[in-house]
Amino acid sequence: MNEYKELDSDILIIGSGGAGLRAAIEAGANGASVVVVSKSLLGKAHTVMAEGGIAASLGDVDSKDSWEVHFSDTIIEGVFLGNWRMAEILAKEAPERVYELERYGALFDRTPEGKIMQRAFGAHTYRRLCHVGDKTGLELIRTLEDRILHMNNISVMDETLITKIVSKDNKVIGAIGFEMKTGKFVVFNTKSVIIATGGLGRIYKITSNSWESTGDGIALAFKAGAKLVDMEMIQFHPTGMVWPPGVKGLLVTEGVRGEGGILLNSKGERFMLRYSPKKKELDARDVVARAIYNEIKNGNGTEHGGVYLDITHKGAAFIKKKLPAMYEQFKEFAGIDITKEKMEVAPTVHYFMGGILVDAETCKTNIEGLYAAGETAGGLHGANRLGGNSLADILVFGRRAGLYASEYIKNAKAGKMGVREIEAEIDNVKKYIDNKNKGVNPYEMTDKLRNAMEEYVGIIRNEKDLKTALDIVYKLKKESAKCKVSGDMKFNKGFIECIELNNMLLLAECMIKSALERKESRGAHTRSDYPEKSSDWEVNIICNNVNGDIILESAAIPEIPERLKKILKQ
Ligand code: FUM
Repeated sequence: MNEYKELDSDILIIGSGGAGLRAAIEAGANGASVVVVSKSLLGKAHTVMAEGGIAASLGDVDSKDSWEVHFSDTIIEGVFLGNWRMAEILAKEAPERVYELERYGALFDRTPEGKIMQRAFGAHTYRRLCHVGDKTGLELIRTLEDRILHMNNISVMDETLITKIVSKDNKVIGAIGFEMKTGKFVVFNTKSVIIATGGLGRIYKITSNSWESTGDGIALAFKAGAKLVDMEMIQFHPTGMVWPPGVKGLLVTEGVRGEGGILLNSKGERFMLRYSPKKKELDARDVVARAIYNEIKNGNGTEHGGVYLDITHKGAAFIKKKLPAMYEQFKEFAGIDITKEKMEVAPTVHYFMGGILVDAETCKTNIEGLYAAGETAGGLHGANRLGGNSLADILVFGRRAGLYASEYIKNAKAGKMGVREIEAEIDNVKKYIDNKNKGVNPYEMTDKLRNAMEEYVGIIRNEKDLKTALDIVYKLKKESAKCKVSGDMKFNKGFIECIELNNMLLLAECMIKSALERKESRGAHTRSDYPEKSSDWEVNIICNNVNGDIILESAAIPEIPERLKKILKQ
């Protein structure tokens, strides 16, 4: 028999980034008892890497802005793959979520008249990004965290990793995990689970994502029987640091281009004039990332394999006021003064548009009592996310997930997990330590996966490369069953790595299979062997878990109603 403790709550929220915290606030305010678990520390989330702002059509800077234009930008730049109802909800509700955040205590930058300052961002028609310098995500998390700490029906468990969501008759009854600091298992008895674990950027070698983003929540949901959508759609942010090697991939906010920064190749040519004469540096992320990729491939790259991003013409006072984090980041890590010198940048994996398939209104999945919000959930952003829409997304849909889960639990009966099921899961997790095999090193496996994804499932894909990547994933899957680590379960990073690797391999397989399936180029998914967009592919690719196998299905994109079609500017 294994030892474990049991914890009861109405709702378990997995993930303490923006979506998880906003869900907790809503559910708590609605009277539910809430436990938030995080494998990291409260406030340590990829949310802070959305630096440039929250997209919301306040019209404080450009008075012509409206929810209709925001909706239109979101659908068009998502290349008509996004869910229209989610985009409508996002565009309509984002302004109120921003004002609410302000009431909670967030300190936004101001216009001279004292309104919320909004900046330009790629492919947004108007200046729409409400911001706090270039530390918006950080301010958002700080504010939500503050609020949570004052609500006594919400408790937070840091450094706790969930390994299984348990359901019975297609209905959630709880989850199993363990505390990293003690190595003790915990059984969470709960009526509802909200997954808000963010994305999976760490499947790639070069990414802006920190160590937490291994897609755990998406994998947990899939293993429990939830459907996944748009798994081929991964966003490469155009500008990550390239030098020094230790910070390769670290985000250089789009705010730099939003505030007037320009991109130059090694010949000093402002190449975006060729790729996108109208929008230039402020075209959609997929367009700018592909342009930079091409420049580097064609031999116009810089010494360290990037291009230049230059904002020196704006002057030191302006740069230090508008982009203080970028100023510090380059000074500290690269010894570059961005008020005087150009930055070197290249695309970096930043955001996952795919994820758990959810209902647009309620964020519920196909499993009763299971909800998902934020980057973990798919559908809203289609084939390309607009910068700033992720912070809006986590506020709008985090709130909705908390609201609808707390409505659901009012009439839901608590289930009880069987002892045998608990024991089986604990044994399954402990196998990496008790493994009788000679064992393979999980870090080596993870490295091989990351290299394969970087090389074969990148900005430009083709069938041959994708099949090569799939073969590598199959091989790694087989080998990873033999992963073994020494020591016990207390703060054992190698042990955590085994669990994350298992999740990443599953998701990589879903991503590659979906990418092979989509025989066209659309948004972030560019196939050199199918370079055109095709109306045949105006479908979502869904991954189903059929007895442990990944089975793909195409689902027609819900038809946009006439009232909304009228406002789409074609
Ligand atoms: O570039 C940025 O500041 C990132 C923003 C976002 O991903 O929304």
